[in-house]
Amino acid sequence: MARVIKWGILGLGKIAHKFAQDLQLVEGCSLEAVASSNLDRAQAFASKYQVIKAYGDYGTLFEDEAIEIIYIASLNQNHYNHTLKALKSGKAVLCEKPLAINQKQVIEMIACAKKQQVFLMEALWTRFNPSIKQVLQWVDGGVIGPLRYLYASFSFNGLDASHDSRLFNPEKGGGSLLDIGIYPVFLAYLLLGKPKTIKASAVLTATAVDEQIGMLFSYEKSQAILYSSFAHDEEMQARICGEAGEIYIDSRWHESPKLTLVKNESKTIHNLDFSGKGYTYEIEEANNCLREKKLESLTWSHNDSLELTKLMDSIRLQTGIIFPMD
Ligand SMILES: NC(=O)c1ccc[n+]([C@@H]2O[C@H](COP(=O)([O-])OP(=O)(O)OC[C@H]3O[C@@H](n4cnc5c(N)ncnc54)[C@H](OP(=O)(O)O)[C@@H]3O)[C@@H](O)[C@H]2O)c1
Repeated sequence: MARVIKWGILGLGKIAHKFAQDLQLVEGCSLEAVASSNLDRAQAFASKYQVIKAYGDYGTLFEDEAIEIIYIASLNQNHYNHTLKALKSGKAVLCEKPLAINQKQVIEMIACAKKQQVFLMEALWTRFNPSIKQVLQWVDGGVIGPLRYLYASFSFNGLDASHDSRLFNPEKGGGSLLDIGIYPVFLAYLLLGKPKTIKASAVLTATAVDEQIGMLFSYEKSQAILYSSFAHDEEMQARICGEAGEIYIDSRWHESPKLTLVKNESKTIHNLDFSGKGYTYEIEEANNCLREKKLESLTWSHNDSLELTKLMDSIRLQTGIIFPMD
């Protein structure tokens, strides 16, 4: 029988709840402890998901010898320091996206994981979803021929959020690019690789983070048009077009089980598996890596996280998005 992987969660906000629900659906792992800066929040969370240990500080979680891996679900500005502390305590880490604010931090986090000889992975969950795996298989297998055009976006109306919220506060690594623009940038990187040139333009908020941002990635013979925004809702279908066919990932593409493949003038719809909210697949990946004593995932590697961060750093440089941590 597969070894049971014992998890802890640090930072008990909105995403931590969704993750805990999905963790309950994955076999061969258990949620052993949760930690929050607020003990009441930790106890309420623990009782909701039948977790034995609830800590009102993070240090106790780092020291808990029963825990093998910590899911870091704190805000963007704290991914770097929380991950480093966990790694230095010998814990494996699955850290929420973006792995960190900039490439300098990511380089340090990867170096620390290597030095400590512990597993580190960015929780870029979309990479592990069946639909994205299928798209990659079709594209790599030449099913739609050489890629010429990709369109992906991610938007929602978050204009009601305060300037101090994680969406708009630069001290919290705010802005649409790091929060949701990371998904379209990821899709272009996954399917087309590193672009030859990037052109980007942003509408900045009064707090000097991007409220909306448009990006054009140019390659030898293809282009990717990418976009994210906190200013409006939209359908969010992704389009991937090659010389011999097209793939459409249904709305909302980053979590959709539905694909449409258009080829030779015929259209086929594929409804793939989708377990829980979609976080189950990254949890399975981390569990398997730990059982196989891997220090990184080959599906979403350290280098993938670093390249993704470098792309976002270049986009920020062009559009004047500067964080205090830069
Ligand atoms: N993968 C996904 O689908 C997805 C979706 C949404 C968000 N995310 C990512 O998940 C992370 C957390 O997002 P969220 O929506 O869960 O955030 P959230 O609910 O606003 O907050 C998460 C936790 O961050 C800590 N926190 C909140 N305000 C803080 C402050 N002012 N200073 C220091 N710490 C503070 C709290 O931890 P304590 O409980 O310890 O107090 C809180 O529980 C972000 O990095 C975001 O990019 C991922």
